[in-house]
Amino acid sequence: MKNIILVGLPGCGKTTLGKLLAKRLNLSFIDCDEVIEETEKKAISKIFEEFGEDTFRGIETQTLRNLLTEQNAVIATGGGCVERRENFEILKKLGTVVFINRPFESIIGDIDISKRPLLTGRKARLYTLSERRMPLYKDVCDLEITGDDDPDILVDKILDEVKKNG
Ligand code: S3P
Repeated sequence: MKNIILVGLPGCGKTTLGKLLAKRLNLSFIDCDEVIEETEKKAISKIFEEFGEDTFRGIETQTLRNLLTEQNAVIATGGGCVERRENFEILKKLGTVVFINRPFESIIGDIDISKRPLLTGRKARLYTLSERRMPLYKDVCDLEITGDDDPDILVDKILDEVKKNG
């Protein structure tokens, strides 16, 4: 089976849904941010603090590229992976790209900003990120899942769509 790649805004549920999806399909689960933290031996927030966003984006691109050897995996990406155009081709090669389009009001209502350096102390910035990234997620994805249902129901929706997509 092709890998399933989850993209979407921070707080849309990529990690939660990815873990459930992997369990249901008996695939492995890979969280791109976790891989970065393990290889860099640093929290994402520390990488931003010490080296800035540009350096983080470079590490993110390299990490995505390194994942090209993976098979039978569900991969949750960082919300900003669409900020670099060169990542589009990598994401496409990685597998079926699924955009988790959770309603903005729901995300802003319950997002934990403590571990998200771009939003620290400025939760409203999510609005700007959403405006800029929404067309990018739509552009890169093969499938789009909308709604704010229970995670198990969203996983059913994803599975239905993935099957239809072949
Ligand atoms: C980022 C989102 C984060 C993480 C980093 C940058 C972004 O991932 O990659 O803090 O630019 O939106 P999540 O989408 O899992 O929060």
